[in-house]
Amino acid sequence: MMKNSNVIMDLSEPLRPLLHFSVPKNWMNDPNGMVFYKGEYHLFYQYYPDDTKWGPMHWGHAVSPDMVNWTHLPIALYPDELGYIFSGGAVIDWHNTAGFGEEAMIAFYTYHDPDSEKQSQALAYSVDNGRSWIKYQGNPIIPTPPNLQNFRDPKVIWYDAGNGAGHWVMLIAAGNAIQFYTSSDMVNWERKGRFGFGQGAATGVWETPDMFELSIDGGAETRWVLTVGLGAGAPAGGSGMQYFVGQFNGYEFVNDNSKETVLWADYGADFYAAQSWSDTLDGRQLWLAWMNNWQYATQIPTSTWRGAMSLPREVGLTETEKGYQLVQKPIAELQQLRVEHFAWQMVTIPIEAGFKPNLTAPLMEIVAIFEVDAAVDQFGFRLVSDDDAYTAVGYRPKNRHLFVDRSQAGLSNFHEAFGDTHLAEYRISNQLLRFHMFVDSSAFVLFVDEGLVTFNERVFPTNNQFSLHFFSENKSVILKSLDVYLLSPAQFFVEAAAE
Ligand code: FRU
Repeated sequence: MMKNSNVIMDLSEPLRPLLHFSVPKNWMNDPNGMVFYKGEYHLFYQYYPDDTKWGPMHWGHAVSPDMVNWTHLPIALYPDELGYIFSGGAVIDWHNTAGFGEEAMIAFYTYHDPDSEKQSQALAYSVDNGRSWIKYQGNPIIPTPPNLQNFRDPKVIWYDAGNGAGHWVMLIAAGNAIQFYTSSDMVNWERKGRFGFGQGAATGVWETPDMFELSIDGGAETRWVLTVGLGAGAPAGGSGMQYFVGQFNGYEFVNDNSKETVLWADYGADFYAAQSWSDTLDGRQLWLAWMNNWQYATQIPTSTWRGAMSLPREVGLTETEKGYQLVQKPIAELQQLRVEHFAWQMVTIPIEAGFKPNLTAPLMEIVAIFEVDAAVDQFGFRLVSDDDAYTAVGYRPKNRHLFVDRSQAGLSNFHEAFGDTHLAEYRISNQLLRFHMFVDSSAFVLFVDEGLVTFNERVFPTNNQFSLHFFSENKSVILKSLDVYLLSPAQFFVEAAAE
């Protein structure tokens, strides 16, 4: 086959991120069908190719060797007479259990019938590395159950029962619950346990489930993590990701925590519909999310395109005084973007003037370690993009709040909730607080300490050259160390056939 030549994607629009994956034109929401195969990370996504607002859904497609640099490919799945193509996952059928071919790539998605609004589950497969797709002729594989309006976003995993035995498990968001199905051939599915209805947060519809087993602090003991998109009522307002930690026996999920316990995967406003990559072979659990919020998703002020993904993250579980919790860190592959390094040690941040490192750049990775003094009202830093435009991040020791304030971050009048301050309650463990941040031209992500708390945030500064302004109120705080890496943009290509 002749290889298509790729063109460099146009990144010139000022609100276009340079580190984060974004759609070349028109509308994108959830990540879908994330699977690793033959050296490529596949990222499919909810795509509407005819407008910058949500519409009849397709699956767009891109691939990457490292989750940092991406090539956009042609649309993978188009809507048809059964409906729009809603969210779902993909796996590799290593042993041809479905009979579509050895190592076929199998995608599961929801058909949304725009007339009846009914939702059913369907399958498509590819035997050429995801480049072309055949929809299964027996679709839907799981028809719409009676009286169920929300029944969508199938995520399929292989449950390994040991000694080569196992079966396929499908999770479907069904009302405020996750319904489990099992199968040996991916075509015939049997309904099993259900989890939800009264568990965790239910202030909005449950969507886009995912589930994976993680070791606790890298040891032999494991737990299952069930992640669920919540359509409204997340900590930063609007949509967000909650998760549950528990046990899974192949059929049923049992929560380790009380049903009232609510755990959040991110405290920023822009981390939704997160999905992990299937079939990664190196043992890492990796995921990313749609970097937007249904509260204002269709109003964000980008021009010919609307939709970006978070940076990919590696997830783990750690033991805390409140039980096992998710920890997240940026993928190691991002280090390839570092081009220059600046470092400071033991800087006292004066109350009045603050501390302004002599640096201005559009793309930065920042690692700041503070010595926390309980008597300080608040400290942190501003990402300053203009005389009066900045985003502030920091900590308030007295009420133990981490905060992100984007009220002055730039364009924000497209939605009343955009300029809010986002909070996370957080108890520091050893007088030190570590902020690890990636600053893109119109987005940033903050990982706190080992990643128990993260904030993923979109911002729309009219100037995207940032400088740093550290502040400490009523008493100075010591910046034990500061490392700033200037970053080069990631590389984004569009395959000629996808233009
Ligand atoms: C989540 C979601 C999914 C649905 C898709 C439609 O953002 O609402 O539940 O499948 O978007 O685009």
